[in-house]
Amino acid sequence: MKVLITGANGFVGSALMRAFRESGANLDLIGIDNLSRPGSEMNREEWRKLGVRVVHGDVRAQSDVDALPAVDWVVDAAANPSVLAGLNAQSTARQVIEHNLLGTINLLEFCRHHRAGFLLLSTSRVYSIEALASLPLVQTGNAFGLRADAPLPAGAGVDGISETFPTAAPISLYGATKLASETLALEYGASLDLPVWINRCGLLAGAGQFGRPDQGILAYWLNAYLRRAPLKYLGFGGNGAQVRDALHPRDLAALVLKQLAAGPVPGRPRLANVSGGAASAFSLAQITGWCGERFGFQHPVGSEAEVRAADIPWLILNSARARQDWAWHPNVLLPEILHEIALHAELHPGWLELSAIG
Ligand SMILES: NC(=O)c1ccc[n+]([C@@H]2O[C@H](COP(=O)([O-])OP(=O)(O)OC[C@H]3O[C@@H](n4cnc5c(N)ncnc54)[C@H](O)[C@@H]3O)[C@@H](O)[C@H]2O)c1
Repeated sequence: MKVLITGANGFVGSALMRAFRESGANLDLIGIDNLSRPGSEMNREEWRKLGVRVVHGDVRAQSDVDALPAVDWVVDAAANPSVLAGLNAQSTARQVIEHNLLGTINLLEFCRHHRAGFLLLSTSRVYSIEALASLPLVQTGNAFGLRADAPLPAGAGVDGISETFPTAAPISLYGATKLASETLALEYGASLDLPVWINRCGLLAGAGQFGRPDQGILAYWLNAYLRRAPLKYLGFGGNGAQVRDALHPRDLAALVLKQLAAGPVPGRPRLANVSGGAASAFSLAQITGWCGERFGFQHPVGSEAEVRAADIPWLILNSARARQDWAWHPNVLLPEILHEIALHAELHPGWLELSAIG
């Protein structure tokens, strides 16, 4: 089976490429990346050594996409994946829309032409910011938790946010481009009878992630702690009680392999949340505590009262649907993810400078 991975030099795209190769699955891989993410150029050498073809091209340009060879599946991992994208000095709204949505449209047209399947890596940031920000929470120790005794909106529960949770705007420009990409992918799948799978991923984390405070928070936090760089808890009381959950991309790869092998499965929902869930949930304050023990010193963390537009205090993603439909579950839990990032940080003293700028 021939598979095109877009964003092949990015954190997730490169992890998928590696995991697919290591799986022994009979896949003929090709990648494309425009190297727009600082740090992504570092993965080029690996592909060269392994003899994997990764084209330097841009999915925003239909001519770059048209020049790619025919494949059976496209796995779309190219994006500007920051929830602040288009709202800060690093990118304009138009750039985000072109990378994330126009790119998807070009790839869907490519799939239509070659009768290829399309697998979109979407995000939990398609869920309504207001609905997430209004969830009833209680702080226990140094982490928020959901108050199970209070009325909860559809799709919210102690196991997390499921696919029926509201997706009404505002959801960030990033979330909006992904939600629109999901809708178009479903539309192409249904009207042209193409296989389509959509994975709404929660936070993905592991060694080699290009860490910034707005994207790749665990890689950023551990690297910054180790280098004694300034760290700050933003908003929500300023003590780092905000909670997310993490999934290692190797676990995502195991699911994607099942989805590519399955092709269309009549009756199965095409869209599912994919996450580490409650078992791999953490608060920032807990990560700071973990860093103190792991690195053997205390590093002070400042605080700021201001909450940024897309910040939310609690988001654990419930992936029960993916677990049930695909007989899938994560194997790499939070301690292993943190350990892996810490080792990588120790081995790469310049990682923040390489990956957090730009
Ligand atoms: N990392 C996460 O926590 C997370 C969570 C949910 C969903 N996702 C999704 O997974 C995908 C990959 O994210 P990531 O964390 O690997 O991000 P990343 O920034 O590390 O990788 C994205 C890659 O895409 C490339 N790229 C961007 N625009 C491109 C374009 N127009 N043409 C070609 N290449 C382009 C970049 O150079 C980069 O190498 C994204 O679609 C993102 O929305 C990631």
